[in-house]
Amino acid sequence: MNLLSISQAILAEAVIDTRQRSLELLCDLDEDQLLGPRLPIVNPPLWEMGHLAWFGEKWVLRHAGKRPPLRSDADSLFDSSAVLHDTRWDLFLPRRAATLDYMNQVQERILEVVHRGPTAEEAYFILLSVFHEDMHGEAFLYTRQTLSYSRPRLEGQGVRDEGREEGRGVRDEGRAKPHSLAPRPSSLVPLDGPLPGDVQIPGGTFHLGAGRDEPFVFDNEKWAHPVPLRPFAIARAPVTQAEFAAFVADDGYRRAELWSQAGWRWRQAGEVLHPMHWRREGDGWLRRDFDRWLPLEPHRPVIHVNWYEAEAYCRWAGRRLPTEAEWEAAAAASGNDLSAPKRRFPWGDEPPKPTQAQLNGYSLGCCNVADRVAGDSQFGCRQMIGNVWEWTASDFLPYPGFVADPYREYSEPWFGTHKVLRGGAWMTRSRLLRNTWRNFYQPDRRDVWAGFRTCALPS
Ligand SMILES: [Fe+2]
Repeated sequence: MNLLSISQAILAEAVIDTRQRSLELLCDLDEDQLLGPRLPIVNPPLWEMGHLAWFGEKWVLRHAGKRPPLRSDADSLFDSSAVLHDTRWDLFLPRRAATLDYMNQVQERILEVVHRGPTAEEAYFILLSVFHEDMHGEAFLYTRQTLSYSRPRLEGQGVRDEGREEGRGVRDEGRAKPHSLAPRPSSLVPLDGPLPGDVQIPGGTFHLGAGRDEPFVFDNEKWAHPVPLRPFAIARAPVTQAEFAAFVADDGYRRAELWSQAGWRWRQAGEVLHPMHWRREGDGWLRRDFDRWLPLEPHRPVIHVNWYEAEAYCRWAGRRLPTEAEWEAAAAASGNDLSAPKRRFPWGDEPPKPTQAQLNGYSLGCCNVADRVAGDSQFGCRQMIGNVWEWTASDFLPYPGFVADPYREYSEPWFGTHKVLRGGAWMTRSRLLRNTWRNFYQPDRRDVWAGFRTCALPS
């Protein structure tokens, strides 16, 4: 990893940009909304704000910079490893203004480090805190969805900066500017219709995981290692809302034979009969989008389904989920020789453009699965990056030779209990992503921005 090759300007922009997004996602919430109800799947947003500042301070200023804490109570309030989740509503949290002040103090000091020229260690932890805040941005959005809060207003929403290309792995794409209100190029007009069919991927030895030339990787991606793959066929696109509605209509939630034992236990415990945020309306369904109910968008991906629901759909459809090695091969292979150098993104090594992937949140939702043709992989899979996170069949496990990075709580505690998701969703920041990026959630989580694509069963 050569982090010193990342310019100070790019680092500073990332620090400022991720904070601006966090504030845009939170600033319109009133005091009650900032605390929110006590639920196992969300945090109090006010606590999460302080936690963002604490994380940057802990790693950049205190750990790498050897500075004393800015607040004597910060560890006891905001350390996610030490403060039990269901106690976070009971803490004597600083109010909004004091929390914002703490956030500003930390950010100012981190920017001072950037401007004087960070060491490699400081640059690593600055990026880590940016990516950590990016991930919490996704959580702020699913919190707003879970709690039926209104859609946020994001800078540049509805417009895109079409021409911009991004720095490798750090800068963000599509950061819109007011002057970019121009007619949409035809390549950005959403394509109607589904995108049925499979592509064939040849067998071979595939190198799963990140290469050592990545400027920044998380510990769970290290390092590329050979995995034998049999030939397989994988869908060109994620499963759509219309396709999933057919599963619901065929009593998919009532037929035990379609579910694994664990999945059926989950379904029965919650008496679940349809996807989260769906509601019957006449013969059809409505879908809740933040605080609005909308008709299903038949050709957009199904979203907010958990791993058990994805697994049951597959059994109903005579399909299966891809393993994460299969997913990565379909996204990253540069040709029929799977052992050949692979692509960093489905379309090549260049960072995402808006024509290639639905990312960064400005759309406030998914696009049709046939859209973003310019983002196809070598084999013709579409939207493997962006639009919707995709469940894989794989347990979240360490790669061979795993060694935890200094932020030990990131990956290691979750091995064996979580499932791997790949690819990012419509709100994921593009600076975070690449083909090798691994997300992970428990199989019963359906509040997150997850859908899936399927593979053919072996013949
Ligand atoms: Fe966190």
